Amino acid sequence: MRVDGKRALVTGASGGLGAHFATILAQSGAHVAVAARRVADCEKIASSIVAKGGRATPVRLDVADQASVSEALKDIVSAMGGVDILINNAGIANTAPWLSTSEEAYDAVLDTNLKGAFLVAKAVAASMRDAGTGGSIVNIASILGLGVTGQVGPYAVSKAALIQMTKSMALEWARFSIRVNALCPGYVETDINRDFFATEAGTAIIRRIPQRRLGQMNDLDAPLLLLASDAGSYITGTTLAVDGGHLLAPL
Ligand SMILES: NC(=O)c1ccc[n+]([C@@H]2O[C@H](COP(=O)([O-])OP(=O)(O)OC[C@H]3O[C@@H](n4cnc5c(N)ncnc54)[C@H](OP(=O)(O)O)[C@@H]3O)[C@@H](O)[C@H]2O)c1
Repeated sequence: MRVDGKRALVTGASGGLGAHFATILAQSGAHVAVAARRVADCEKIASSIVAKGGRATPVRLDVADQASVSEALKDIVSAMGGVDILINNAGIANTAPWLSTSEEAYDAVLDTNLKGAFLVAKAVAASMRDAGTGGSIVNIASILGLGVTGQVGPYAVSKAALIQMTKSMALEWARFSIRVNALCPGYVETDINRDFFATEAGTAIIRRIPQRRLGQMNDLDAPLLLLASDAGSYITGTTLAVDGGHLLAPL
């Protein structure tokens, strides 16, 4: 599942899963565009990839802003020549019950997680079609796009819609040899949620996961590389959950 010689764009790569995905793709042979709004953090991630012998280019990108997407794509094409792999990872969540969810909070989540994925996928797919090379797009959804829990309504809506967008794009773009798949992580331990999962409420959630543990970032490596690399060349329009069986939790 190597990606030697491929050019990959990872959105939301200034930290968390995106930074990890960028690092894994670079270790697997790709030249990676490390993109997010906090470009100084992207520069740090790119430098650490380069220090380990990989190839990485930091890029400023706000996925929810068409002008920023167009500008970033121009920068990436001039730095790397094009994009073969897109990891649509940028995402935000808002924690509140529906009755306390403001219009602004709803728009922010949908603009980032859904419209952002659309804007970047459209720009990248157009460049792949024009280059005639095809490629692979992996949309980072969530098990909350397949099931629901309280207090994350707009997030769950955005991820469910992202899964449907994945299928629709896969159908239209197969003729251009562009594959589009959705990766749905369960609860993955990162710097941001580690403290929460150590609390009583956090451990109660872990007890409901059939494997009785959180996902670790490297649990996503092989699934990501399968969908991104030519190893998955006949896989398109699928949704791959990586969740320790969480979606199977008994009612
Ligand atoms: N962690 C989990 O357990 C988990 C589970 C299922 C799915 N996911 C999904 O995995 C993805 C990454 O999550 P994470 O846990 O790594 O979150 P995170 O640590 O909060 O990172 C989110 C990333 O998205 C970027 N971002 C946010 N808005 C952006 C925008 N408008 N334009 C460009 N980049 C933007 C942020 O960078 P800037 O602020 O620098 O722009 C940041 O790098 C998300 O799509 C999330 O829904 C995570």
